[in-house]
Amino acid sequence: MEAYFFDVINFLVRSLHIITGIAWIGASFYFVMLDNSLHAPKKSSDKENGVFGELWAVHGGGFYHSQKYMLGPKNEPLDDNLHWSKWEAYTTWISGFFLMAIVYWHGAEIYLIDPSIAEMTQSTAVAISVGYMFGGFIIYHFLCKSALAKNDLLLGFVIFILVSFTAYTLTELFSGRGAFMTFGAMLGTIMAANVLFVIIPGQKQMVARLRAGQEVDPAPGIAGKQRSVHNTYFTLPVLFVMISNHYAMTYSHDYNWLILMAISMAGALIRIFFVSRHSEGKPLTGALISAIIIMCVVIWAMAPKSITVTKNDKSSPKVTMSQVQSIITERCTACHSQQPTQPGFSVAPKGYTYDTVEKIKTQAAQIYQQTVTLKVMPIGNLTGMTDEERGVIGKWYQELNSEQK
Ligand code: HEC
Repeated sequence: MEAYFFDVINFLVRSLHIITGIAWIGASFYFVMLDNSLHAPKKSSDKENGVFGELWAVHGGGFYHSQKYMLGPKNEPLDDNLHWSKWEAYTTWISGFFLMAIVYWHGAEIYLIDPSIAEMTQSTAVAISVGYMFGGFIIYHFLCKSALAKNDLLLGFVIFILVSFTAYTLTELFSGRGAFMTFGAMLGTIMAANVLFVIIPGQKQMVARLRAGQEVDPAPGIAGKQRSVHNTYFTLPVLFVMISNHYAMTYSHDYNWLILMAISMAGALIRIFFVSRHSEGKPLTGALISAIIIMCVVIWAMAPKSITVTKNDKSSPKVTMSQVQSIITERCTACHSQQPTQPGFSVAPKGYTYDTVEKIKTQAAQIYQQTVTLKVMPIGNLTGMTDEERGVIGKWYQELNSEQK
């Protein structure tokens, strides 16, 4: 019942996370597009009133006329009905934090810790994971407040080096999955904290001064804009990293930290392309082409290497089905069964069950891929599958294939 309870909570919190994430990123994409598409105002009265740029748009059966005032309207009071964008960001982060807690911290032994990479207790693993999430923001925040922040390119470069270092160290501490997710959670925390600690307080200060009839200091707006720009370039890396978790080929690779950085870089480059496409001047097609090249290299690097077990091993007797079944029963069916016995599992993960010989045979390809090619199952190697057993599964699968030919 407890496992079922966690599944239900997982489903609800994940749904909330995705929905609020869509709302946040959607609004963010919209405002970045709007900012880059603004044209100088046509009416001189608008100019006098402080309008910096405007955009006409058609959507949903009507016409919209957006105007941006850098420092608020000059000749009239700020409207009382001011819309703020912040709850999308906060709820995305809060739901993400809970999801991280339910899946990766509560289930650290399954999802976060990999004894073949580093042995540690659940509490150590949780402390490290939380430490990266918050520590990442603290270091980033002080960098943005340092003298380095005057040079956007240099700051971007230092952030990139630190993020790469994070990716590398995480993959030396956690399972590939756990490392990727902590990495994404750290970037997501930076994005939400930028909204909470810099962008919104800066805007509050501007609004307070405007309402008090004082002159508005542009500094908080400029600092907020810098964080906003960083958030824009973090968006796709975070989204790609979140979904890469469904593809074991990414996180199970020997050089998974490079794959992680390459995917993140491709995400940032794609965003750079779209930002330039909405701005005046030529779109930066080079950024898009670079992203495509990076992804092609990643896809090539991740391709499974063909293992030839049978060729050198022809003399040894064929693997029997009962050999395979006893390995699977010992190492897999605790989770992959109609009635899982592994604590924390109320139903077989992804619906894969291996209770009968027929089931095992029909799913031979996936079993081979997960245990031999990718070596990601049993998850966290909780049931202690040996390399010899992986060899037996590999040989069985190849013999099965050569029989069919
Ligand atoms: C401790 C529980 C556990 C054990 C033991 C285990 N698995 Fe899994 N398995 C999982 C979980 C959890 C998932 C879902 C992973 C995800 O969400 O990406 C999974 C997913 C899978 C998938 C689907 C992968 C995909 O992305 O479609 C296959 C195939 C699989 N396991 C095979 C095996 C085999 C073969 C064994 C035994 C050698 C095994 N598993 C042992 C927990 C386990």
